Amino acid sequence: MIERPRRLRQNPALRALVAETRLHPKDLVLPAFVAEGADSPRPIQSMPGVVQHTLDTLAAEARRAVDLGVGGIMLFGVPTTKDARGSGGTEPSGILNVALERVRAEVGDDLVVMADTCLDEFTDHGHCGVLDDRGRVDNDATLEIYGEMAVAQARAGAHVVGPSGMMDGQVAAIREALDDAGFTDTVVLAYAAKYASAFYGPFRDAVQSSLEGDRRTYQQDPANIVESLREIDLDLAEGADLVMVKPAMAYLDVVSAAAERSSVPVAAYQVSGEYSMISAAAANGWIDRRAAALESLLSIRRAGAHVVLTYFALEAADWLG
Ligand code: PBG
Repeated sequence: MIERPRRLRQNPALRALVAETRLHPKDLVLPAFVAEGADSPRPIQSMPGVVQHTLDTLAAEARRAVDLGVGGIMLFGVPTTKDARGSGGTEPSGILNVALERVRAEVGDDLVVMADTCLDEFTDHGHCGVLDDRGRVDNDATLEIYGEMAVAQARAGAHVVGPSGMMDGQVAAIREALDDAGFTDTVVLAYAAKYASAFYGPFRDAVQSSLEGDRRTYQQDPANIVESLREIDLDLAEGADLVMVKPAMAYLDVVSAAAERSSVPVAAYQVSGEYSMISAAAANGWIDRRAAALESLLSIRRAGAHVVLTYFALEAADWLG
């Protein structure tokens, strides 16, 4: 007698019954861009199908996300003016804060509203923090601004703030600032293991980044995984409610290790370059867009991510519907 694992693969009903991992729209979070002063949505060339929204089209997109049963939306702002301190991130009139207010008014508690808590879209030098007099990213001076930014985002209606700058101590600083301002219910989604990745390329287009150089003094070296476990432990000790690994597909080992390590749910971010690679290959007819996107999302869930941020969120929810 031979062992016959194929017995369980013989038809779709059996395969569905024994599937170990499932994709559900509620696990997905849509990252979305909103441009200050835009009067119509602007396509992002390197991310076909993704746009810089106006406030109106963003609200409509958030409504679509609710209707499709998606879990959440993560907002990124594209300001018209930038300065050394990234003031647009903390001012209530800054585009991201205005957009949070608008989206929250639209969806209430029907969709988890998240904000990127990072200065890079708002600084004229494009770094995730402020610079010291020698041009280096000043960790502790940045923490203070992150605290202010998180409070502004909570006040504008964010359920979740997502510090993505990889400053040491950022989760503790943000938690303390939120608590002091009375926002004890605001959730902190910590970008715990965020790598200095080439796969962010299209995103920098999407937010019209001013960055010259790289982020290697604060984002992690792709060679390392032990370092990620340390970052995760620190973020948990500092009070993170969720921890995230980013990018996703080239870091599934990190996702898996994080899931084993973490006492809170793990998120993974399928970043712009991952989206664009699948989109570009599909546009050339080299792979099937739907099959490849769903397979990639399934693999991220299988690796252990509870929550997946993905530019495919609405499409995937529709396919899964
Ligand atoms: C920083 C931030 C980045 C992304 C999300 N938050 C860019 C970076 O670190 O350079 C990348 C997301 C993507 O590529 O989809 N605010």
